[in-house]
Amino acid sequence: MKNAHMGSAPAGPLPDAAGPGRVLTAMGRLEHAEALDGVAGSLRRAVRALPLGPCRDALHGRWLGHPLHPLLVQLPIGAWLSSAVLDLVPGARRPAALLVGLGLAGAAPAALAGWADWAELEKEQARVGLAHAALNTVAVSCYAGSLAMRLTGRRGRLLALAGLAGVSVSGALGGHLAYRQASGANHAEAVPRLVAPGWHAIGALAELPVGRPVRRLVDDVAVVVLRGTDDALHVLADHCSHLGGPLSEGEVTDGCVTCPWHGSVFRLTDGWNLKGPATAPQPAFDTRVTEGQIQVRVRVGTDHHA
Ligand code: FES
Repeated sequence: MKNAHMGSAPAGPLPDAAGPGRVLTAMGRLEHAEALDGVAGSLRRAVRALPLGPCRDALHGRWLGHPLHPLLVQLPIGAWLSSAVLDLVPGARRPAALLVGLGLAGAAPAALAGWADWAELEKEQARVGLAHAALNTVAVSCYAGSLAMRLTGRRGRLLALAGLAGVSVSGALGGHLAYRQASGANHAEAVPRLVAPGWHAIGALAELPVGRPVRRLVDDVAVVVLRGTDDALHVLADHCSHLGGPLSEGEVTDGCVTCPWHGSVFRLTDGWNLKGPATAPQPAFDTRVTEGQIQVRVRVGTDHHA
């Protein structure tokens, strides 16, 4: 079961040009551009094969609690915008060239973080992300050419302007990817508000299998329930904070559940995300058993420790 969750990547009909407008229609067409899937698949395998080790989670932003990529793009965008202003100032050719070079240096880590995130997206998101990356590559090439011209005494302003145009359109695509398609959002964030305060019954303890995660509903919110061999009960929100994958279909080992979609690992006792790409922990629930019936309630103020 995929994408049957809140905040999933849109896969519905194309928007009506007379309604949301041409920009959104173009974005919708890009989301549905299956022709991109071949190259996306090859690139996805290549990025996943990179020997990044623990750096991969760092690039995702797990240590930060949200994606790192939007933070890293501040440097190249800021430097390049500033260089565009300095290009209009007489006698500022050297600082403008310096800012173009600074932007190029900052683009490398931003791109690496972006590719790490991109490799774990759903196909509609990956198509938009691919166009975003392609435009950024064009922009970086323009700025590299501009810098080369500046270092040999020429102005290089037109190439820089072309790069800025590319980065601007790419930024719009990135915004669509992040907000419209919710690629970097915490897909479990609303759970504590969707479940009413207090205890909720989710069934009899005797009917719960031991050592196998099962899905239950609490106030119409899906949760994954695991009964340990010692009869300890662990309950987390079922929709993965990364992109909403069903944790109840995941594998349980060493007190953790692994999301079946992209492999994020969550600790069962408190929902802490021990491994990305998820950057946010999973909402956890308190449990109790009353007259053989399991009851759960949203846990407030969880003290997570990585
Ligand atoms: S949905 Fe991506 S790791 Fe769970």
